[in-house]
Amino acid sequence: MHLPASRFLADRLGTFRPRVGLVLGSGLGFFADERIDAVGSVPYADIPDFPRSTVEGHAGRWVAGTVAGQSVLCMQGRFHFYEGYGMEQLALPVRVMRELGVEIFLLTNAAGGVRDGMRPGDFMLLSDHINFMGANPLRGANADAFGTRFPDMSVPYDADLRALARATAADLGLALAEGVYLAVSGPSFETPAEIRAFRALGADAVGMSTVPECIVARHAGMRVCAVSCITNLASGLSGDALTHKEVAETAARVRRPFADLIEGLLARQP
Ligand code: HPA
Repeated sequence: MHLPASRFLADRLGTFRPRVGLVLGSGLGFFADERIDAVGSVPYADIPDFPRSTVEGHAGRWVAGTVAGQSVLCMQGRFHFYEGYGMEQLALPVRVMRELGVEIFLLTNAAGGVRDGMRPGDFMLLSDHINFMGANPLRGANADAFGTRFPDMSVPYDADLRALARATAADLGLALAEGVYLAVSGPSFETPAEIRAFRALGADAVGMSTVPECIVARHAGMRVCAVSCITNLASGLSGDALTHKEVAETAARVRRPFADLIEGLLARQP
């Protein structure tokens, strides 16, 4: 293990070997409390030189345990570019997971619906993304221990995992949209003109996370799957002002089916 944070966490987790890495988005942290049979948790603040989560609705700790028989290492609270972290700080936890043995990387987020017909409370499986953050987490000296200088991104989100997610949703009787997530840096929500532009570019949903983690995970050879909880219609589409409160309230409203979807996916032993 190269990273001090990996050694620290490995030490605290003892013999636990995670296969799945899980990142819980805004308002979705309850999954760790409700669905993970935890063997341990480590606050980010305990880890030397590790960033801390500053957003409301993000607990800020690692939770290790099992879900449906799968060993999972979960970030209950993620780091966002808009909090002021450098991209290298966003890369760190992803690489820590890789060093601890994670092969499958499952990302969740809250997002605004851009495509026609998307409604608050819908779920969207990411088929692809557009990086509109203006920065790439792999910029700088290449981390050769993890991957190559110019990693392929032609299949950012694993086809088999997506098929399993679709099958899980069908089994549960849940609608699961599929589409392109466009990431902005935030923290301001978008303007209506930006949303019209993003729609023309092919975006189905817009958010402020996930893309940096996906890029770092693909660089390191992990299989990635990501699901958005559409918490609101994007700017200008509903006539209402956007608030973080609405984001949190919608995520809370659909917590049960969202957790069922994630747990059901893991139960299929991806
Ligand atoms: N825009 C950007 N990020 C978001 C949104 C949005 O409308 N909703 C939740 N996260």
